[in-house]
Amino acid sequence: MTDLFAKLAVEPSRESMAEGATLLRGFALSLEGQILPGLRSVIAEAPFRHMVTPGGYTMSVAMTNCGAAGWVTDRSGYRYDRLDPESGKPWPPLPSSFLDLAIAAATEAGYPDFRPDACLINRYEPGARLSLHQDKDERDFSHPIVSVSLGLPATFQFGGPNRTDPIRKYALRHGDVVVWGGPSRLFYHGVTELKDGEHETLGRMRINLTFRRAR
Ligand code: SIN
Ligand code: FE2
Repeated sequence: MTDLFAKLAVEPSRESMAEGATLLRGFALSLEGQILPGLRSVIAEAPFRHMVTPGGYTMSVAMTNCGAAGWVTDRSGYRYDRLDPESGKPWPPLPSSFLDLAIAAATEAGYPDFRPDACLINRYEPGARLSLHQDKDERDFSHPIVSVSLGLPATFQFGGPNRTDPIRKYALRHGDVVVWGGPSRLFYHGVTELKDGEHETLGRMRINLTFRRAR
């Protein structure tokens, strides 16, 4: 019985969120042992920082990147940049475990040709949130977004093509992967204020890996 419940808790499953959008529950769990060391080495080279929006607001979510291009924001705008503005050096490369996970998840969700060149890494501490937005700084919207949740659970908001469209909420847990592309590629999404808690491997935080094809 105990074994059965343990299996049910981690058995990957898929849930359709909208046309082109799929929630793959527990999809990253089997790769956790490779993903976490990859994350540690990226962060050692390119530490988390709180970026500033063009409007002058300091984001509550701390960010870093790996890959050929990294998403950055400052007073001059949002963009992808080959270089980490803090170090002046290229962002660390995508660890092979990150690439494997992103490609496997995209394939599972119906996008077998996805090859990310950018991974934005978001760190949410209790109270941090990401307001409703579209991912639209990428060159070609025919590529999907692959988003991996690690650590504390969060409430993910997923709406439609207009900011005022009805929003559905999804509880995302450690190991869940959301893929959105095709007709839902430009759908509004966000994360509500992170509740305090303690995750057994990551502690008091949620980490989100967002894979994109930026260029
Ligand atoms: C994002 O929209 O870039 C991040 C979404 C998330 O943290 O789940
Ligand atoms: Fe986003």
